[in-house]
Amino acid sequence: MRSHYCGDLRASESGEEVEIYGWVHRRRDHGGVIFLDVRDRTGVLQVVFDPDEEKSFALADSVRNEYVLMAKGKVRPRPEGTVNADMPTGEVEVLGKELVILNAAKTPPFQLDEYSEAGEDIRLRYRYMDLRRPEMQQRMQTRARITRAVRAYLEEHGFWDIETPTLSRATPEGARDYLVPSRTHPGEFFALPQSPQVYKQLLMMSGLDKYYQIARCYRDEDLRADRQPEFTQIDIEASFIDQADIMTLTEGMLRSVFISVMNVELPQFPVLSWSDAMRDYGSDRPDLRNPLRLVDVADLFTQVEFKVFNGPANDPSGRVVALRAPGAASLSRKVIDDYTTFVGRYGAKGLAYIKVNDLAAGVEGLQSPILKFIPEDVVSAVLQRVGAQTGDLVFFGADSAKVVNDAMGALRGELGSDLDLLEGHYRPCWVVDWPMFSQDRDGSFSAEHHPFTRPSCTPAELLADPAAAQAAAYDVVLNGYELGGGSLRIHDNEMQKAVFDVLRMDEAGQSKFSFLLDALQYGCPPHGGIALGMDRLVMLMTDTQSIRDVIAFPKTQSAACVMMAAPGTVEDQQLKDLHIRLRGPANVVAADAGDSAAQ
Ligand code: AMO
Ligand code: AMP
Repeated sequence: MRSHYCGDLRASESGEEVEIYGWVHRRRDHGGVIFLDVRDRTGVLQVVFDPDEEKSFALADSVRNEYVLMAKGKVRPRPEGTVNADMPTGEVEVLGKELVILNAAKTPPFQLDEYSEAGEDIRLRYRYMDLRRPEMQQRMQTRARITRAVRAYLEEHGFWDIETPTLSRATPEGARDYLVPSRTHPGEFFALPQSPQVYKQLLMMSGLDKYYQIARCYRDEDLRADRQPEFTQIDIEASFIDQADIMTLTEGMLRSVFISVMNVELPQFPVLSWSDAMRDYGSDRPDLRNPLRLVDVADLFTQVEFKVFNGPANDPSGRVVALRAPGAASLSRKVIDDYTTFVGRYGAKGLAYIKVNDLAAGVEGLQSPILKFIPEDVVSAVLQRVGAQTGDLVFFGADSAKVVNDAMGALRGELGSDLDLLEGHYRPCWVVDWPMFSQDRDGSFSAEHHPFTRPSCTPAELLADPAAAQAAAYDVVLNGYELGGGSLRIHDNEMQKAVFDVLRMDEAGQSKFSFLLDALQYGCPPHGGIALGMDRLVMLMTDTQSIRDVIAFPKTQSAACVMMAAPGTVEDQQLKDLHIRLRGPANVVAADAGDSAAQ
């Protein structure tokens, strides 16, 4: 029976007989003595075999990396000069007496201690090997601790953990659905939930008052480093509460999780309105560690001949901003060209700039390809407004507000890290007062959050001017990531119908939600909630760059599992049972899908 985990042994255990189990992390042969670093989920322990124990020594000599073994022996302090301060167990070693090889292992596809060498594809193909790496094990442990802390907090605040179905109907969170064919209802499909949104609202209508769930959600959308097709939400809903209650609860939960898991005290959560966030950061999820700000300068350019600037300056849907990069006057032409290419990816047609080589020298002290187009008084008004100092560089963006926000918001982020300007480790904030809808080019509206969000106006006002409607919605943002989003919900039938009307949801569409419209008429309490992305939270708390690093078995960028080869084809009989006929053999269908995706 195991007496100790490898990583737990310290000098205080010296002299004890121990029995440990684990994997061979490394094997070294030091002139007649064999050292095995044995690893389990708690850490690595050095076990030494010398030729006195003939049988064990021969076995130790035969093991290779990743063999699974049991070792018995006596703990002893390491000899003078061989203590390893980098290892928690580095003061001791076990003098091995008995060794049993429980299983052999093929040569690993990549070195577990030289992880940076291995590409992600191979790591995901052999995920069970990748997960053996100590840093992956620590992330899994941290994730489990975060889950426990979240549960503890919510339970303490009266929330009940209630499970909701995953075989469901489409829920409108804006992505494509994953569909599941029904055998018993030919031609009909379940949808996997994009979130438990509708169910949690129905639970409030059921009088359950406070609900939470660590819920799996499924969204068939384009993937990024912070998005997976299946991911986990900390999903929360409560009745008879207002926006401040939910914000306080969420803030309290995050504080308590950061303290209990990492002993980190989060700073204040400033509350920004959506429009202020867009104005100052060009983004609805600003990274407040970054001190840079976009500064509106359109008013200074309305009369200036330079058409690149005066076009957007005189257009109500245009925007002209300046972005001061402190100390960046020394950037080379090449670097500035690279930033120009970078903003181009967001639709910007150029990136004007002024280098402030010597502020006191007036125009003579400036350097810029656009100076010749701009009167001196305008230049100095701009420099004054952004607070330019000698040594700074001021970038400009002029275009539609959307392009300027996207491009200059992204440039702000890039400069913040390139110029090493980020301040503080964790900087959360709230973004509130969202518009209810965003408007597409064709004039149609889509819900900025989802169609169950409560507008801050009457149904009549909403129908009269949907573009002006604000929503009782709030996002919690951490270090530039949207960590969570929520809202107060519509709790009356007339308002819900008005929202569906603005969204031009036809009879058939509305009939899909007839159960909800009905339920709203049977005594629905005012309610609201929020959902936080668990994977993003763990990613931020473990300082990783990708949520794939904090999910045990994630999908690749193309939404597949390379280890199990999922999705995969199925037997003809299975398709028959499900009443499904493919439009061609699987490989033809796949090629078709590829063609249409490329179009
Ligand atoms: P929303 O769609 O904003 O809101 O989702 C809530 C949070 O879930 C996380 N998230 C994701 N994480 C990983 N991969 C994804 N593909 C992904 N999509 C979303 C984000 C996001 O902030 N029902 C509403 C919540 C509510 O109103 O209560 C909802 O799902 O961190
Ligand atoms: P042009 O007249 O197009 O050669 O542009 C003159 C300067 O303005 C160049 O430095 C461009 O990079 C810059 N520029 C062009 N379009 C924009 C834009 N939409 N926003 C900011 N700068 C721009």
